[in-house]
Amino acid sequence: MKIIFYSVAAITFVGLLIIAIVRPEMVTKIMFKSDNASLIASGKVTYLQNCASCHGDNLQGQDDWQTPLASGRLPAPPHDADGHTWHHPDGMLFTITKFGPAAIIGDDYENDMPAFNGILSDDEIRAVWAYIKSTWPKRSQEYQQKMTQAENKENQ
Ligand code: HEC
Repeated sequence: MKIIFYSVAAITFVGLLIIAIVRPEMVTKIMFKSDNASLIASGKVTYLQNCASCHGDNLQGQDDWQTPLASGRLPAPPHDADGHTWHHPDGMLFTITKFGPAAIIGDDYENDMPAFNGILSDDEIRAVWAYIKSTWPKRSQEYQQKMTQAENKENQ
């Protein structure tokens, strides 16, 4: 009985520690700037080096990206205006890039998207999104901005 109690306490403690470390970034008010030319240029370089192998040189994603692979996992979706990435608010995009989709969907979500925590700095991740956003038509940018504002309100 005691062992169970201590195990639960230890797991809870570690869990809280992880939340304390991870959460500030999850709730930071994130607004990727998509109107800063040098940020966009550096974000494009980082994108080509780290994301393009799966999401495509032109953000087009992998072929048949909506059809699951033999493994049951999904191919990499496009990040251009034809995909649905632009429906997601900044905080979510940041979290997926840094911690992987499982951080949003649930720990047991199996997928082929690597987490960039420890590989890209937060600023590099923001620059990548500044670049990606800059390629979206104004209407998508505006929609995505509204989603981000709503997300920020929720986190206040
Ligand atoms: C090794 C291949 C690979 C690389 C490299 C990669 N991704 Fe992905 N990414 C994927 C796959 C596969 C998915 C789909 C995961 C799923 O939903 O199951 C995905 C999904 C995503 C999503 C969720 C899109 C949505 O609309 O839900 C975002 C955001 C994303 N990737 C951003 C990035 C960024 C930014 C980079 C570079 C810093 C990157 N990815 C690099 C494979 C990759």
